Amino acid sequence: MTTELFQKPDEKFYTDAANYWSEIPATVDGMLGGFGFISQTDIKDSKLLLKQLFNCKNPPGRDHALDCGAGIGRISKFLLTDVFDKVDLVEQNPTFLEQAKRYMGAKLSRIGDFYTEGLQRFRPESKKYDVVWIQWVVGHLTDNDLIDFLVSCQDGLKPNGVIVVKENITSTDEVEMDRQDSSVTRPMRLLRQIFDKANLECYRQAKQRNFPKGLYSVYMFVLKPKKVNDVVEESTNESEIPPAEENGNKEGHDQNEETR
Ligand SMILES: C[S@@+](CC[C@H](N)C(=O)[O-])C[C@H]1O[C@@H](n2cnc3c(N)ncnc32)[C@H](O)[C@@H]1O
Repeated sequence: MTTELFQKPDEKFYTDAANYWSEIPATVDGMLGGFGFISQTDIKDSKLLLKQLFNCKNPPGRDHALDCGAGIGRISKFLLTDVFDKVDLVEQNPTFLEQAKRYMGAKLSRIGDFYTEGLQRFRPESKKYDVVWIQWVVGHLTDNDLIDFLVSCQDGLKPNGVIVVKENITSTDEVEMDRQDSSVTRPMRLLRQIFDKANLECYRQAKQRNFPKGLYSVYMFVLKPKKVNDVVEESTNESEIPPAEENGNKEGHDQNEETR
């Protein structure tokens, strides 16, 4: 008799993922499934997104960010510590967080707390963060756990704070299951429904550019708590978001293409 029989389906989904990641090297290549070479391209568009966000009306502060499913801290090192005074990391794999302490080098002084916890259990401290960055990890949460986590992240936000989700999206309208790493890739429609159920408004949506062909499309979503009596804010209009060219970004056109 296997232990599987004693586990609820959700628990197995999480333990299978934890087992998968426990075999993966604590390197950038490991974090990106052998595609370590896309890291710079990824960071470049994320930087542009943050730059545009800080140019908007009522931008978030630059005090404290949270890197969720942080792995060895690739995003904290190359993106978040350049922008925020302090960055906390939450990650389920303790080996990755130990490696993050070495990998961060001089940037370690900008790191605040390390939380070794699955996002299905982790709950951020109230009103602590200007930006909660959640990249390439939401596929490891069930729909309900993702909704609960996103709801809890709103409580973790300071005034004007935002949640950024950067994630693979299926080209079909179907959820695609990866049994090897125990994750799902969701279609855009489902992810937007989940944001809505979590009471989040998608303030901005941008597509990652210049990734190799054959990979999933990757989108960045800037999410804000819906307001009470919400008249959905017309905040994605182009006047608030400078065109990419003004930011010295002439390579592609996708990043500014998407608005609500
Ligand atoms: C594809 S890697 C991405 C790492 C990092 N976000 C990056 O982009 O470099 C996925 C990460 O999510 C972590 N992870 C998987 N399931 C998780 C969970 N339930 N809660 C928190 N982290 C999880 C893995 O251990 C791994 O570090």
